[in-house]
Amino acid sequence: MHIQHDISLKPYNTFGIEAIAKHFVSVSNISELKEVLAFNEYPDKLILGGGSNMLLTKNQNKLVIHVNLKGIEILSENDDFVHVKANAGENWHEFVLWCMKNNFGGIENLSLIPGNVGTSPIQNIGAYGVELKDTFISCSAISLENLSIYNFDKSACNFGYRDSIFKKQEKDKFIITSVTFKFSKRNHKLHVNYGTIASELEIMNISNPTIQDISKAVISIRESKLPNPKIIGNSGSFFKNPVISIHEFENLLQNFPEAPSYSVSDKEVKIPAGWLIEKAGFKGKRFGDYGVHKNQALVLVNYGEAKGSDILKLSKLIQKTVFRLFNISIEAEVNIL
Ligand code: EPU
Repeated sequence: MHIQHDISLKPYNTFGIEAIAKHFVSVSNISELKEVLAFNEYPDKLILGGGSNMLLTKNQNKLVIHVNLKGIEILSENDDFVHVKANAGENWHEFVLWCMKNNFGGIENLSLIPGNVGTSPIQNIGAYGVELKDTFISCSAISLENLSIYNFDKSACNFGYRDSIFKKQEKDKFIITSVTFKFSKRNHKLHVNYGTIASELEIMNISNPTIQDISKAVISIRESKLPNPKIIGNSGSFFKNPVISIHEFENLLQNFPEAPSYSVSDKEVKIPAGWLIEKAGFKGKRFGDYGVHKNQALVLVNYGEAKGSDILKLSKLIQKTVFRLFNISIEAEVNIL
């Protein structure tokens, strides 16, 4: 382990934005991590996982700590279930594929989500009717304050839609070092009701899907809709889908009777932000090296050398326009740094 200086963060963020880290260190075990966190000469630290949920808008004068803790371990199992612990630096999608190979069910719908295992609980990643919290047992995290390791069970994490305690009360106070999951080994509970999955399975001519089939269907849907960050820089959904009251929804329907929605409770509905942004005319719009993806208006993209500040400016223009047209605020899902 050694501290490097003036390192480009371009390879470390899926948006592919150029920004310089004044100090940078990659840690591959807990004792290195503790050692680095104890350094007094760099009081300001930025924790970097898979870099898939951030927009870098400037150079970083802090010490950037790349959490590269690897390893997957089976903690316990019986005929029906298995408890698996994955360390924070494991790539999320490779972990999903490892589960598919072992026939461990639970996260097949979360195939191809960019990022690492360690950051998955922070925003309770979710897709196609499944969220991380559905298989989550606990996570270990190191306190930046006293360097002790704490265990957070599911209720302590207070998971919500793209939300957890690590985005609220405990924001920037912990580094997640590992996550423990409970997966099924047989009689898998399949989630195929999310519209596009059912139709994708039909196209694949599969009527009795396995978890591996579902993973393949999700990969195919994501590949057709979402840009591959290795080719076109992006951070997945840039915005969260806004949750509005039934009353606000009724007002929206008066002007836009075709507005889609997902039910949240008897008081609230969620509106796909992608629809609002498309309706506002931004889908597929390109401004030089950045723009809005042509197949999914929720995704802002970097075609090459875009600056983070350009993308931030575009996101603000989108928020302002959506608010002006629909009176609905949409909130960024990615962390702006
Ligand atoms: N829509 C449009 N235009 C668009 C995009 C979407 O009109 O350009 C409308 C359509 O009505 C469509 C509906 O939005 O039927 C839903 O679209 P989609 O199924 O693509 O889902 P989403 O609500 O746009 C969410 C997640 C995605 C996740 C998908 C599938 C958020 C912010 N995004 O998107 O997550 O993959 O559902 O479950 O909740 C991510 O977080 O990075 C991400 C990609």
